[in-house]
Amino acid sequence: MEKEKIIELLNLDLENEHGAIIQYLTHAYGMGEGEIACEVEAMAREEMRHLDWLAETIVELGGEPSLKRGTMNMAGKEVPDWMADDVKLEQGAIDQYEEHIKMIDEPKIKRLLKRILADEKSHRGDFEHFVEKTKREGLKDVRGDRKDSVTKTLNWGIEHEYTVVLQYLFQSYMTGNEEARKQLEDQAINEMQHLGWLAEEMVDGGSTPRIEHTKPDQSASTADMLKADIKIEKEVAEAYDKAAREVDDAGLRELLIRIRDNEKYHLDVFNDLLEEEEVDKSTDTGVNLPDSGG
Ligand SMILES: [Fe+2]
Ligand SMILES: [Fe+2]
Ligand SMILES: [Fe+2]
Repeated sequence: MEKEKIIELLNLDLENEHGAIIQYLTHAYGMGEGEIACEVEAMAREEMRHLDWLAETIVELGGEPSLKRGTMNMAGKEVPDWMADDVKLEQGAIDQYEEHIKMIDEPKIKRLLKRILADEKSHRGDFEHFVEKTKREGLKDVRGDRKDSVTKTLNWGIEHEYTVVLQYLFQSYMTGNEEARKQLEDQAINEMQHLGWLAEEMVDGGSTPRIEHTKPDQSASTADMLKADIKIEKEVAEAYDKAAREVDDAGLRELLIRIRDNEKYHLDVFNDLLEEEEVDKSTDTGVNLPDSGG
């Protein structure tokens, strides 16, 4: 099979992992605190690892990881229906991985897909069990319909965090700068935490988080990536600072300040990386110029 075709298939798998992550997080947050919510969130984290492996394989093949999100199923009204929807999503993933394993001959990629397939089969079993368990325990959707300026601020935060998770992950796959790759991945994980804190805060406060994103930066060069990241971190550090000053709730203020300080840290990290990147580039030119002139 041609490389392009393999990249296309792996990107379809990656998009479905992305959809699964958001569907499971939405369900986990919607159940509030508890053992099952924790386990569903842990499964979302396993899908993140799958997404990461697939993206790295796509880049090794010379491709670009897709930023599209696969189809989700959020139709279920009651918690046991959510779990049944998750069983269906896993079944769809299992069918697709089995098909792709048959189609792809490369042993290393086949092996990776088989490894993921085994996880999905175990997830399917877990969700089947959760359909019964959530029924038995009478788990309810704990989200409320509060809609005020706090809800608006928190939803803005979630949208921002989701966007930068995608942006930093994508950049970490595409950059050739090893230090930048490591830092971008680290900060993406931190932004993922922010998303979780904000979503849990919203559910506690009686509203419903909306997990959507805007368009992530897809610059081609590391310097341009970092410039875009610096711009966004500056803006959000200010926005979180302003929001912290406006809220009445002390706990929420503390949370917003904690996130703000993380964003300031990201800003420093990206500024340092950009400086090093620009020094490296100018040294390269300095060394190369006499040679290319001769
Ligand atoms: Fe899964
Ligand atoms: Fe953040
Ligand atoms: Fe940040």
